[in-house]
Amino acid sequence: MAKTEHTSKTDVLPDAHEWERDGQNASLWNKDITLKNEETALPETEVYDVIVVGAGITGLTTALLLQQAGNRCALVDAHHAGFGTTGGTTAHINTFADTTYAEVEQAFGTDAAPLFAESIRDAVELIRHFVETYQIDCDLEWRQGYVYAETEEEVKQLDDLYESALRAGVGVAPADDVPTPVPYLKAVVFDGQAQFHPLKYIRGLLNEFRKSGGTVVENACIREVETADGHYTAISDQHRIHAKRVVYATHIPPGGINVLHFRNAPYRSYVIAATLADGAYPDALVYDSQEPYHYFRTHTIDGQRYLVAGGHDHKTGHNDPERAFADLIAYTSKYYNVEQVAYRWSAQYYVPADGLPYIGHLPGASEGIYAATGYNGNGMILGTAAALVISDLITTGDSKYKALFDPARVKPVAGFAEVVKENADVVKRFIGDRFGIAQIDSLADVSADDGRIIELDGEKLAVYRDPAGEVHVLDPVCTHAKCIVQWNSAEKSWDCPCHGARYDCFGHVLTGPARADLDQML
Ligand code: FES
Repeated sequence: MAKTEHTSKTDVLPDAHEWERDGQNASLWNKDITLKNEETALPETEVYDVIVVGAGITGLTTALLLQQAGNRCALVDAHHAGFGTTGGTTAHINTFADTTYAEVEQAFGTDAAPLFAESIRDAVELIRHFVETYQIDCDLEWRQGYVYAETEEEVKQLDDLYESALRAGVGVAPADDVPTPVPYLKAVVFDGQAQFHPLKYIRGLLNEFRKSGGTVVENACIREVETADGHYTAISDQHRIHAKRVVYATHIPPGGINVLHFRNAPYRSYVIAATLADGAYPDALVYDSQEPYHYFRTHTIDGQRYLVAGGHDHKTGHNDPERAFADLIAYTSKYYNVEQVAYRWSAQYYVPADGLPYIGHLPGASEGIYAATGYNGNGMILGTAAALVISDLITTGDSKYKALFDPARVKPVAGFAEVVKENADVVKRFIGDRFGIAQIDSLADVSADDGRIIELDGEKLAVYRDPAGEVHVLDPVCTHAKCIVQWNSAEKSWDCPCHGARYDCFGHVLTGPARADLDQML
């Protein structure tokens, strides 16, 4: 049967004004839902118990748990709920993670793997609890999760994954009937996995947060946090919000350089949602063992099924995004009878130096300031786990996972050669980028709706030419810590390769850690 190759945008997309996310490509989740909200009037004198910065799954879950425990919370977002990675995730809910239990045993000791597994189990249970208790209509479906190996080398890794999962007390079994068209040598199946619609889920959390008296402040980029009179004041262009504690649920914490910026590497993952001509949609979550791996699942919206396929991840600001999409589409089309690629989008995540997320008190910050980051590709689960840890730390002063996820921990990273490489790369970028870009002769090299770093009279400039032909010139120096941003041709954004800050084509901050826009040069 003939296959139709990729089309980047289609008439199934919602109107451009109805959705916003941290890129120009709508995700499948943007199709039927927007979480843009009304302005909130804030009493300037109120001192909240907690300000939670960032309204993705981490921030919303944290804020809801804290509010329900009797804390008065203000949930603040620079844009709106679900604008960032939660709106671009593929929303897999797993009992295993990108960092295998074997890797956790190796880096943190044998007791750490069952503890990590327990934190994941708690997170899955909390999602189930919220969905059932609040009747959240978010397409939550329980699925089996298959992981397969295609080479002898991958078989060894799969054996490690399987045996260490068993040791950690996680339900897993050999599988010989994987719902995949890809030929494989060996496979395992995890039970009790799930999938949902991430924006519908956090919309449910948002409703419950509001019902329980929580305050939501949107379009408020927190540019600074001051300490005075025994509390913190978070300052945006429009607001001064006071609180006794601050939680950064923003991936990497924003502002000045923090040790977490060097222990996490920003990555982008690519996703397509495609219709299949033969209707052979997998009724499961499916993962290969390639590096980086591909992942597949099915989601139905308005009666239309979509194959949601992801992969071809790379470090932010490094590879060609269009190439990554092309490779993902080619790979998917090789095995599935792709009729139409209805959506394509990318999303950002952070790879932690030693394999586990950093959740707890922000190193170097005053007492009462918390952060959570380094979820790898497991944001739905580890974001939820982070909310449990931080809400426990705030309400009881302790968490059984406090030491395991302590952001101030120092672990040998010898087993994580990749991240050693990442850190070296960040340092190199700090020093080298400002001197290493080839001279480009003229602004004419920049075509419509495209961006380039160019050099004019020895000065580097970030140049974007809009579809009408007008040229916008920005200082390419990232306002976080002065790396040079790179053009992301797929999402039409300026991405910083150092710590993952992203700016739209006009230089406005999309995601931290930067708090200030790129300087306009022209
Ligand atoms: Fe840190 Fe750009 S994100 S220098």
